[in-house]
Amino acid sequence: MRIVSGIQPTGNLHLGNYLGAIRNWVRMQDGLGQGDECLFFLASLHAITVHHDPAQLRANIREMAAALIAAGIDPARSTLFSQADVPAHAELCWLLNGTARIGWLNRMTQFKEKSGKNREGASVGLYAYPVLQAADVLLYQATHVPVGEDQKQHLELARDVATKFNTDFEVELFTLPEPIIPPAAARIMSLRDGTAKMSKSDPSDMSRINLTDDADLIVQKIRKAKTDPEPLPASAEELAGRPEARNLVGIYAALSDESVEQVLARFAGQGFGAFKPALAELVAESLRPVKARLDALRADPAELDRLLGLGAARAREAAAPTLDATYRAMGL
Ligand code: ADP
Ligand code: NA
Repeated sequence: MRIVSGIQPTGNLHLGNYLGAIRNWVRMQDGLGQGDECLFFLASLHAITVHHDPAQLRANIREMAAALIAAGIDPARSTLFSQADVPAHAELCWLLNGTARIGWLNRMTQFKEKSGKNREGASVGLYAYPVLQAADVLLYQATHVPVGEDQKQHLELARDVATKFNTDFEVELFTLPEPIIPPAAARIMSLRDGTAKMSKSDPSDMSRINLTDDADLIVQKIRKAKTDPEPLPASAEELAGRPEARNLVGIYAALSDESVEQVLARFAGQGFGAFKPALAELVAESLRPVKARLDALRADPAELDRLLGLGAARAREAAAPTLDATYRAMGL
């Protein structure tokens, strides 16, 4: 099994990013068997398909890499790198542009959503994004790619590109990657408004738990989190119509690796005066080691760059044979 997965480099990481994205990668890595491997990349080349600030992008690449390592991605076991540090991604993408069909890209629903009404003003990169995604996984002969609902269509396109290339050039070059559907990730809501997603874009810092928050601040934020006056119910169904309560119980369940029912079995009948301190302690304890490693990596950018450099070197080596074979198959 060779798993390849990318993540957008973003900064100001919070509990939603941790439970919804970062932790899934750590679990994937930790669940691997003998001989299996993971390649994880920061999708820095995808990030330039929309307007961006160069200094911010550079900082976000470091921030996301630090968070991934802090959360448990082991750069010795997994190949962790920034896409832009491995030119083979851009090279293979261009070569595959000869194989991908305009009609295939025209069917991609994500481009329609992301470009919105101003389709003529969208970048060519945003349109061709799925071809780069195909290159990202075909380059490493990925056998498995984790895909959420919104990415299924793009993996299908990668398989179409691989099949057409192998057929057109009469080679057995590209492995057709299979999807792995990741376990339903927790969707964490704002602490101020249980119906909005916890997000770095929320102007109120009290709405989210940042990975850099210390235990005191976590306790304070959870104490002030919006709730209702009812005690916790005995069943998950009874949380319907109580978005704030549901969110806090959901966070507890995600961090303690229990079902919502198991958490409720322990707290049913108790009010938030009892539940909030228990939740705050669990959040602070869970994030304590992550924050400690994150602080250390943020204070040592040279070490972070060294780790990303090692990952990139390993990825370049892994990519070289497939890239060479692609050029050769095309007569180049
Ligand atoms: P933000 O909403 O803070 O801007 P991003 O859009 O940069 O976060 O998301 C980065 C990753 O974290 C994505 O994989 C996204 O699905 C995940 N993520 C972001 N916010 C949440 C959340 N509130 N709950 C669960 N996952 C989230
Ligand atoms: Na976002």
